[in-house]
Parts: sequence; structure tokens; C-alpha cells
Amino acid sequence: MEASLSGRPSIFIETYGCQMNKNDSELIRGLLNESGYSLAEHWESADVVLVNTCSVREHAERRVLGRLGVLAGWKRLSPNRRIGVLGCMAQRIGASLRELRPCVDFIVGPDGYRRLPELISGSSASAVDTAFRPEELYGGIRPMRDSGFSAWVTVSRGCVNFCSYCIVPYTRGAERCRTAGDILSEIESLAVRGFREITLLGQNVNSWRDGDMDFADLLRRTAAVNGLLRVRFMTSHPKDLTERLLDAMAETQAVCPHLHLPVQSGSDRILERMNRKYDRKRYMEIVRSARERMPHLGLTTDIMVGFPGETEADFELTLDLLETVRFDDAYTYAYSPRSGTAAAGFEDAVPEDVRFRRLAGLIERQRAVTLQTRKEWIGRTTEILAERPSPRDPDEWLGRTASGLTVVFPAGGAAPGVPVVIRIEGVRGLTLYGRTVDPIDNGGSVCG
Ligand code: SAH
Ligand code: SF4
Ligand code: F3S
Repeated sequence: MEASLSGRPSIFIETYGCQMNKNDSELIRGLLNESGYSLAEHWESADVVLVNTCSVREHAERRVLGRLGVLAGWKRLSPNRRIGVLGCMAQRIGASLRELRPCVDFIVGPDGYRRLPELISGSSASAVDTAFRPEELYGGIRPMRDSGFSAWVTVSRGCVNFCSYCIVPYTRGAERCRTAGDILSEIESLAVRGFREITLLGQNVNSWRDGDMDFADLLRRTAAVNGLLRVRFMTSHPKDLTERLLDAMAETQAVCPHLHLPVQSGSDRILERMNRKYDRKRYMEIVRSARERMPHLGLTTDIMVGFPGETEADFELTLDLLETVRFDDAYTYAYSPRSGTAAAGFEDAVPEDVRFRRLAGLIERQRAVTLQTRKEWIGRTTEILAERPSPRDPDEWLGRTASGLTVVFPAGGAAPGVPVVIRIEGVRGLTLYGRTVDPIDNGGSVCG
């Protein structure tokens, strides 16, 4: 095997999928770094490329298979190069991934990452580790993060909700919660190192528990960590969202008034078949209750159309819901059958062309709602956390409101993680822009 200066092969990790996968890649980088591996800056110059994959929709898997085709060409140029497939697709497809893409050297599911140093250095030609491990797995590893001010912190792994369309419980296994002590000590050390924003991650953070402590308690404890300016969290499953959580959000300065609350459908009949365990009425109650406490709440969601049995009338109910609730943003998807899930066996599939026609209609309606809700911000003064220079114009920066909206503003002295008070002046495309103001000149009034 080619050796880098450290004597160990150098590694490059590419990541597909959700924030939890991205945080896992940071964890893997930390783990490999602690084991003495060097990390390559570009995949072409690495000795080993690891692809951390997603299985949530067929499209996500197709992208990875395409990418592995390109990597097969890269691998042929030198006999020592190796390719590892990690994450949800490694777990779902396992050893037969090698029949689809013979270039793959090792296949490791989300519970097997502690074995990576050994698998990378080993010569085993057929390393496959897709065992589920019941315990919490990755305590004590310090992830290597890209950002120096904003960090994801995973609070639980896996999911037991078995929404009928979803592959995640099969790829990630049962839910396992990290202990409060482990989570808080990671967050305290991040704050000491200068991190200002923390996003707590789990497939359903609302079901996190440690003994008597629930997620609302964890949020309050996190917000009390010295030096943190902002605490975010995702994803919230509506079935487990409590009034205690909304109170913790509203009463705690550092917890951002933002809920990512996937609704999936506006039709009770479809929600029931999806096994979501709430109905439209309950969803609307949560939204009302949250907005009563937090008038400038940022509300985002996931919506899926074309689920088996979805009629035009069901679809209309979804459109009606998005206009009634008025989400700031919606991540929209056409249903993609996942083999092994309950819904894959439902016989009343919606034809593909109908699914994609509905998706296009949904995107158009949400775009109009997004634009309306953005325009409501014009004239407001708000504190944003500066993030990075705008890729379009070096004289401008991007930052985010506490409610989660991106704002473009003039660069003048901005630095990552530093708060700036902005008066919103307009909307470009769907992005807010504004000018820096002195809060004192504004009578001290700054909204969430
Ligand atoms: N744990 C989160 C969602 C994780 S997956 C939750 O419970 O809300 C992210 C989103 O992908 C889901 O909210 C859903 O809208 C979408 N999704 C999941 N499985 C899908 C499938 N089979 N087809 C299309 N979209 C899917
Ligand atoms: Fe999938 Fe449902 Fe679990 Fe979310 S809560 S990961 S949609 S099974
Ligand atoms: Fe994809 Fe796995 Fe996340 S299926 S969405 S990477 S949990």
C-alpha cells in the first residue's frame, strides 16, 4: 500500500445523506486521525476513498453507484488504491454491493466504524461488517469538524418508529441514546474551543431520554453551557413533541425559535397508512401552540407526495395544509419504494408520472408560500450569526437568523460565529438581504 509521510495510507471521505451521516463522517475522521492516519485534501491524491452513503430514496443510492463507477476508474490507475463503502447503503446491501461494483474493498455499516482503522490497514480482501451493536458506540471520540464555530452533536442513533415508507430503522437499527453526561461533556469542550452554535441531532430528538431527563431538560442544560450563543436541534417527530419542549424553547434565550417538524402529508388517511401516529388536527395544534409562545418561530418541514393510495383529494389536502400552516421552507419528495419496508408491499402504488407531477405542483405552491413568508421579514431588525463569505460576491457575507433563515449582508468586518444586528431590506430570489445596524440606534428592539 502507498504510504503517506506518516507511514499510513491517506484517507478521503465523501458523504451523502442527512446531517447524521455528515456528523458520522466527522466522527470517522476523528477516529482515523487518532489512529495515526492522515487525511487527504482531495480524493484523487488519497490512498483510500471512503464513501459514506444514504439509502433513503432510490435516487440517493443511484448517485452512489454512479460515483463508485468513477472511483473504479481511479482505482485502476494504481494497484494500491482502495475503496470503502460506509453508511446506510453499506448496511442495506451488504456484501452483494460487490456484485454491483466489484471495485469496493470493504463495506462497513453505521455500527462498525470503530473497526475502520483495522479494516483499512488489514489486507482482508472481503471485509464486510454490517453487525448491529446494541450499545452506544462512539463515546469518547473527538469528531474532526469542518466548521470552527458551529457543530453537530448526535444525541441518539437509530430509530424504532417504523414509518411504513422508511428504510432508516433497517439501516441504522434500534434507537440508542447517548447519556446526558457524554453529550454535555462534548458540548462543554466545544464551547471552550470557541464553538458558538450547537445543533443536537437525532432521527427523532423528542424521544431522547436518560433516566428522568427528557429532551426538554437536555435542551435547557445545553443552553446553559457557558459561551454558547445558539442551540438548534433536529428532527422533531410531531408524535413526541411536548409542551415542555416548547416551554424550554420559549424560555431559554440560546435555544433558537426554529422547529423542523416533518408533516409528510395533509391527509389523515395517508398519515395513518404511513404509521406516523398523529393526525392533521394534532399537527395544527402543535403549530398553534408553538407560535403562541414564539411569534417569529421558523417552521420547516418534510413533505412526501405519491405515497401508495394517495388520491388527488389527499394531495389537495397536503397543498391546503402547506398554505394554512405557511411553512418557511419545505423539503419535498416523491415517494420512493424501499424494499423491505411495509409500504413496499402496498398494492395501490401511484404511477411514477403522477408522483412527479404532484411533486412539481407541490414545489411551485411552496415556493409561493416561501416568498410570502420571506417578505414578512422586510423592515424587521434581527440578530444573525455570521457564517461565511457569499460564494457569489466577495463583498458580501452569509449569516442566519435565529429562526434559521439565511441573510446576505455587506461583509465589513464580519467573522464566522460573530453576531451582527441586521435590518432586513429585501428578498433576492428566496434569500433575505439586509444592512448592519447599531441596535442602540434602533431603540434596542431586535426580534427573534
Ligand atoms: N427522522 C426524520 C426523517 C428522516 S428521512 C423524521 O421522522 O421526520 C428525511 C425525509 O425523507 C423524511 O422526512 C421523508 O419526508 C423523506 N423520506 C423518507 N423515506 C422516503 C421514501 N421512501 N421516499 C421518499 N421520501 C422519503
Ligand atoms: Fe424514518 Fe419515521 Fe424513523 Fe423518521 S421517524 S427515521 S421517517 S422511521
Ligand atoms: Fe440517509 Fe441513512 Fe440519513 S438512509 S437520510 S443517511 S440515516
